[in-house]
Amino acid sequence: MIRVNNLSRIFFDSQRGEIKAVDSLSFTCQAGEIMGLLGPNGAGKTTTLRILATLLSPSGGTAELNGFDVIKEPDKVRASLGFLSSTTGLYPRLTPEEILKFFGEINGMKGAGLKSRIDALIAEFNISDYARVRCEKLSSGMKQKVSIARALIQDPPVLIFDEPTVGLDVIAAAQTMKAILEYKKRGKCILYSTHIMSEVEKLCDRIAIIHKGTLQAIGTMEELREQTGERYLEDIFFSLMGTGTTFAENGS
Ligand SMILES: Nc1ncnc2c1ncn2[C@@H]1O[C@H](COP(=O)(O)OP(=O)(O)O)[C@@H](O)[C@H]1O
Ligand SMILES: [Mg+2]
Repeated sequence: MIRVNNLSRIFFDSQRGEIKAVDSLSFTCQAGEIMGLLGPNGAGKTTTLRILATLLSPSGGTAELNGFDVIKEPDKVRASLGFLSSTTGLYPRLTPEEILKFFGEINGMKGAGLKSRIDALIAEFNISDYARVRCEKLSSGMKQKVSIARALIQDPPVLIFDEPTVGLDVIAAAQTMKAILEYKKRGKCILYSTHIMSEVEKLCDRIAIIHKGTLQAIGTMEELREQTGERYLEDIFFSLMGTGTTFAENGS
């Protein structure tokens, strides 16, 4: 479903010079699987996801989504994808219902089909109490539900979440993760980027640990344990980062 092969992206910055944000990254993600992209700030997660969403072009390598190449068939890639980031905004003056209608229409949906899809999402995400309230009046948890529903409007086979729980309280974050697990059960191919290890442990079938644009390790928790000899994801992570910092070791 998602196939990333030797993907690279270089930025040029007048202050910092050449930045290899993504450096020969390769991984896959199947239908019915949640693949976690775990890495510290600046690891290259967002850059990778923006390339997959056709918002940014790669400097090298290839990426395929639902069988479509991000460079050669960007329209088909976009039609296959629901993309949600922590910075995905909602138009403050529109209501959730209007936002869903707007995004449905720009994705080519209309009429009774669009109406019943909107109604289904409003019911599924418990939005009905505030479906006709302007977004500027909603809490961040409410807005996040609307944002997820928005990403799902065309029922795409591939979903990409970029740090979707940033700024949410624990309840809203847990609800977000529950919704994502539900969509995995329905067979979606899901890429989930975060720097929060507990989220990865709860959600992800496989984990790709990235640091400075490169893949440090990839596999299930069990495989990562075998590879590093560490038990906890935090210790696995630090051993792969090469810092050697484990909390077990210093007794704290
Ligand atoms: N538009 C840009 N111009 C210059 N540098 C960028 C740009 N976007 C990202 N970067 C740099 O690329 C690196 C990876 O960033 P990013 O993909 O946002 O990481 P993450 O999402 O893992 O925190 C960082 O060093 C960041 O500063
Ligand atoms: Mg990011």
